[in-house]
Amino acid sequence: MHVPFLDLAAQTAAIRDEVLAAITRVVDSQKFILGDEVRQFEQQAAEYCGARFAVGCASGSDALLLALKAACAGAGDAVLTVPFTFFATAGAVALAGARPVFVDVDRDTFNIDVSQIEPALKRYPNIKAILPVHLFGGCADMDPIREIARSRKIAVIEDAAQAIGAEYKGRRAGSLGDIGCFSFYPTKNLGAFGDGGLCTTNDEALAGRLRALRVHGRTATYFHERIGFASRLDAIQAAVLAVKLKYLDQWSDRRASNAALYLRLFDEHQSSVIPPRPAPYQTRHIFHQFVVRCPRDRDEVQMRLRSEGVASEVYYPLALHEQPCFADLGYKRGDFPVSEELARTVLALPVHPDLSESQIRHAATTLTRLLP
Ligand SMILES: Cc1ncc(COP(=O)(O)O)c(C=O)c1O
Repeated sequence: MHVPFLDLAAQTAAIRDEVLAAITRVVDSQKFILGDEVRQFEQQAAEYCGARFAVGCASGSDALLLALKAACAGAGDAVLTVPFTFFATAGAVALAGARPVFVDVDRDTFNIDVSQIEPALKRYPNIKAILPVHLFGGCADMDPIREIARSRKIAVIEDAAQAIGAEYKGRRAGSLGDIGCFSFYPTKNLGAFGDGGLCTTNDEALAGRLRALRVHGRTATYFHERIGFASRLDAIQAAVLAVKLKYLDQWSDRRASNAALYLRLFDEHQSSVIPPRPAPYQTRHIFHQFVVRCPRDRDEVQMRLRSEGVASEVYYPLALHEQPCFADLGYKRGDFPVSEELARTVLALPVHPDLSESQIRHAATTLTRLLP
């Protein structure tokens, strides 16, 4: 049996006519950048995330960069984030001219260990923002993060690239900090037919700044208050995303029930696989990824899964403080032991909405056999 990691062809086939009609509408309008399609999608996305404003841009990486610039992180500033995440989280901080300061993650939630935030803020008084990541589709523990940020008058920027529709205590990702950043990379739960990204905020002034920054800092025709970027969402992507947004909850619910089946099977089979644990606070996890830990031989296990038809991925094999490009931050191996351990042991299993029950059973039993 073949268990693919993702099946975008199946997803597209189910909505093909609707998506093609939306693309045709844009082609007929000949308006390809920003415009009405983008404005409408921004409104729908803001509403979906429970935020007042949404500002589309060219990618999730750009959403982070625009958010950091809008929240005034720049040269001489530092931004607190985690080393166990996709590269762009810290890459955007460096591109904004600021220094990424890392604290470790929690072993069970894969998200920022909030107990380490205060000590880091004391050590680096130039930290201007906290950048928690809602990794794999589960929210970071946002209440204490917001409380600390409020007391220090620093910003909170959510890296919600993997978490559209995820909830923390009944509130959606993207409405939990000053700015939320989303990615519409095709493999995301809400994926475009190319690159795309979005910032959400409840703050009108920040929304205005984000809108200006995505068009070279322009606030009126040929008038530039600040230096910005060329990072616009194009109309074809917005039209596709608006169609897909209608199905997102249904797809995310399928992911969550697939994850629940895996958890039941691992429990029944008494394997040594370490399944993801629920957060100790109320959340809606949207399972962008279903990530287990292998107590031993992760790479060998992955190879043997592949030979039995089960695809898997490693997110992420190297913590960011171990990346050569961040060597000048001065961190060394051992500084973030949980992130390093996760990088050696994590394995993401297929959890996409188009899996059948028998495919999940095959993946779970094969893994259990490899790790009794
Ligand atoms: C946690 C995280 N942050 C940022 C990004 C960047 O998004 P994009 O690939 O759209 O630039 C991603 C995308 O993979 C991500 O997973």
